[in-house]
Amino acid sequence: MNESEGRNRIEELSRLINYHNDLYYQKNRTELSDFEFDQLLEELIHIEKEFLNLKKDDSPSQRVGGTITKNFEAVVHRYPMLSLGNTYSRKDLSEFHERVVRGLGHSDFEYFCELKFDGVALSVTYKNGILDKAVTRGDGVRGDNITPNVKTIRSMPLNLGQGNFPQEFEVRGEAFMPLEVFRRINAEREDIGEERLANPRNTASGTLKMQDSSIVASRDLDCYLYSLLGEGLDYNNHSDSIEALIQWGFKVSPTFRKCLSLSEVYNYIDYWEFKRLELPLDTDGIVIKVNNIRQQQMLGATAKSPRWAIAYKYKSENAVTKLNGITYQVGRTGAITPVAELEPVLLAGTTVKRASLHNANEIIRLDLRIGDEVFVEKGGEIIPKVTGVNLEYRNQKSVSVEYIKNCPECGTLLVRAEGEAVHYCPNLRSCPPQVLGRLEHFIQRKAMNIESLGRETLRGLVDAGLINDPGDLYALTYETLNGLEFSIENTNGEGYSVRSLREKSATNILEAIDKSRSSPFENVLFAIGIRYVGQTVAENLADHFESLDNIQRATFDDLLEAPEIGEKIAQSVTAFFRNEESIILLNKLKQAGLNFDIQRSTGTVKSHVLGGKSFVISGVFNRVGRDDLKALIKQNGGKILSSVSAKLDFLLAGDNMGPSKFEKANKFGVTIINESDFMEMIEN
Ligand code: IVH
Repeated sequence: MNESEGRNRIEELSRLINYHNDLYYQKNRTELSDFEFDQLLEELIHIEKEFLNLKKDDSPSQRVGGTITKNFEAVVHRYPMLSLGNTYSRKDLSEFHERVVRGLGHSDFEYFCELKFDGVALSVTYKNGILDKAVTRGDGVRGDNITPNVKTIRSMPLNLGQGNFPQEFEVRGEAFMPLEVFRRINAEREDIGEERLANPRNTASGTLKMQDSSIVASRDLDCYLYSLLGEGLDYNNHSDSIEALIQWGFKVSPTFRKCLSLSEVYNYIDYWEFKRLELPLDTDGIVIKVNNIRQQQMLGATAKSPRWAIAYKYKSENAVTKLNGITYQVGRTGAITPVAELEPVLLAGTTVKRASLHNANEIIRLDLRIGDEVFVEKGGEIIPKVTGVNLEYRNQKSVSVEYIKNCPECGTLLVRAEGEAVHYCPNLRSCPPQVLGRLEHFIQRKAMNIESLGRETLRGLVDAGLINDPGDLYALTYETLNGLEFSIENTNGEGYSVRSLREKSATNILEAIDKSRSSPFENVLFAIGIRYVGQTVAENLADHFESLDNIQRATFDDLLEAPEIGEKIAQSVTAFFRNEESIILLNKLKQAGLNFDIQRSTGTVKSHVLGGKSFVISGVFNRVGRDDLKALIKQNGGKILSSVSAKLDFLLAGDNMGPSKFEKANKFGVTIINESDFMEMIEN
């Protein structure tokens, strides 16, 4: 492909990707599968890498991130970002209305009502239709330039294309993490034994301040726009500017409404009080704005907030009920979660019987006693939480709850590591929820993809004593599966009924298990369930160490050299391999023929000049990328190792190599070569 062909293809791909993005994120429709879409994006990234000068600021490849920002530049807002006055009652609201009437000298005006989105305020400037700069609110006067991170938000247009917009303008809105994404991330964190994130707002805010925009991209943030600013905009009403934003391709929540009187505002408030809980994001109230822009200007602003707008905050959804008891759940990693068992109570439209209590510290903080009247509150999470105790009604004879000492499932004495809040059951091998949890983790789609097995069948197999760890799955036969009886929880949640596995399902399950043998190494590494090793960490480890043997041999310090691996993960990985149970499991999986090495497409063999010699690559290289160096070594008959030992032949050193590798190489008398030495070796 020459440069002019490159330019044409980039244009075509960008157009296609923008079209499908818009369809998906603005209009909720699709014409392509995820795979087809990813292929377009990959092709674009590939061509842009080849012709660096052709990459544009508004290229849809920016969506996947990749920019690292060490320090965010401070930017002064052209128009200060004010905040809103809050009201909590109709009385406050009618006082606001009176002030507006007095300010305007008449009551001939309209309101424009919107929901108050609970996220992070953003200011985004466009120049000639192209996203130029995205800035946080900061202290209202100056904020941080987080443009690369905001560009990863799919619904945020990078280029407005053709349209009737001014040369330069600013939009403001709220970036947020959709509840669905927040719940997914928390489920993933729980799965690998990480603590849950507190709420979507803090998560969105933390995400937008991350240094690596490719991580931001993976977090699927979204943004609703709610205001338009600029010189010479001739809109009469706020509602007209909202219409313009929609026209130009910005994402605006369709929940707004024009209200002609205060009583219509009250209706809007009533309508959304519970309905808002069905929205894809957290909202904490509504924003009431005087619609006419001239009237807004007449009313002006105080130093802190405009006089033409106000927020009405819904009281947080809480209720008072009786604490009947505390039960304890055991997770896959053995983590214990206490749960409050409550007298059923109506909360935000649903009946609540249980609430989360997080950990032992929380029970101590609340000084909970059985029989207490407790406050329960609903946030972004599906499970509500206990926020406090109504001390007025406390029975003075009651005693503080004592945390359990033994596992409620298997009776083993619980442990709590120093400095950790969570208790664990250390009985990995035979504590039922841990056994089942590990199996469920193993079969999930992102791991070995044997989901057709299903939770009930797994439980049936465990109950029948046929399997105890993932390795046992590979020893299952048609004879053991066919006709297997297992119980399914009744849909009303009361009791179980017995089913048996049919021939067809037995065959399907065996086929899926068999197919899983060819899952890539990174999936296997994730599937074996090392604490804190999620999908991305598994990918990084697999890529860096290339084989399970290498990871197993790696020391704590070697592990720290892999990208994004910190002490907590390194510690957990070394502990995993020290554990006898893990070794038994790994042996079974090895026997079963699972992939314990990374499969790279190394291209064709070019020569055997390296004659089986081993290499460790370390540091940063200028001429050839790391992956290409690895490919060259393999293509020319060499081997790649991950750590320096006496057996190693060459340490291929780039810039900024860690001192420990250098010292070890010297100690073992390993030859150290640089990039040009290496190129000479293969060119000769
Ligand atoms: S208009 C003068 N509209 O609430 C401020 N703000 O306390 C005009 N917010 O910083 C802002 N939803 O982050 C406006 N529909 C909405 C909003 C909204 C949420 C946030 C925004 C702002 C804060 C003001």
